[in-house]
Amino acid sequence: MIEIKTPAEIESMRRASRVVAEVLLQLKSKVKPGVSTLDLDRFAEKSVRDLGAVPAFLGYRGYPATLCVSINEEIVHGIPSPKRFVKEGDIVSLDLGAVCDGFYGDAALTVAAGQISKGAQKLMDVTRRSLDEALSKVKAGARLGDVCHAVEVFAVENGMSVVREFTGHGIGRRLHEEPSIPNFGKPGTGPLLKAGMTLAIEPMLCLGRADVVVKNDGWTAVSADGSLAAHYEHTVAVTESGCDILSAVSRAG
Ligand code: MF3
Ligand code: CO
Repeated sequence: MIEIKTPAEIESMRRASRVVAEVLLQLKSKVKPGVSTLDLDRFAEKSVRDLGAVPAFLGYRGYPATLCVSINEEIVHGIPSPKRFVKEGDIVSLDLGAVCDGFYGDAALTVAAGQISKGAQKLMDVTRRSLDEALSKVKAGARLGDVCHAVEVFAVENGMSVVREFTGHGIGRRLHEEPSIPNFGKPGTGPLLKAGMTLAIEPMLCLGRADVVVKNDGWTAVSADGSLAAHYEHTVAVTESGCDILSAVSRAG
């Protein structure tokens, strides 16, 4: 069952999602050669708490940090470490979740550290735009498969491959709710979207093959062929006319 949220519940999710967006924006300027991934996590945890929210990932199924920091061939769920430093030319995916009034927000983006390769830049651009494509399909009356298909087509047309082992998800009173939202699918299939459904849509694309290996730490997912990966995510609410991006950076400030 895909839960429909009330307008008040969606406003709580917007508060949580805005905290996530604000902290991700601040983190962007901290991703520079020499910073450790633990420094980024410390900053994220303090900032989330200072903004009156609670880190969503910390302790989730035993995950030990606030932030996921996944560098280059790491796709998702990179665990922050005092021994891991960002270096010139890296692409760094940051994934963050927060809880406000018992409701979750979840978002991710990929940041370049210094000068990056043309391929890395293209991967980042295509991944971000594949999320835009997906969001453009979200609307009451659409099918979930329309959204999933949009990511796949855009990625493949632009020469990237789609990670199939991880998906987006419904979100709300829990980090992961129904439905599961793969980054591939058939248009006109899957659940009917209704106003008030809240979804975390998160394309994960690779420059090479998209086969995944999980490292011995039990979390870090890397591309099996070592190719670069990028990840973008928004938490959104379905509306009658389209999609309300809850994790958009607030224009009001
Ligand atoms: N955005 C990711 C997801 O939805 C983050 C989860 S990380 C975890 O799965 F540590 F909380 F598992
Ligand atoms: Co997510």
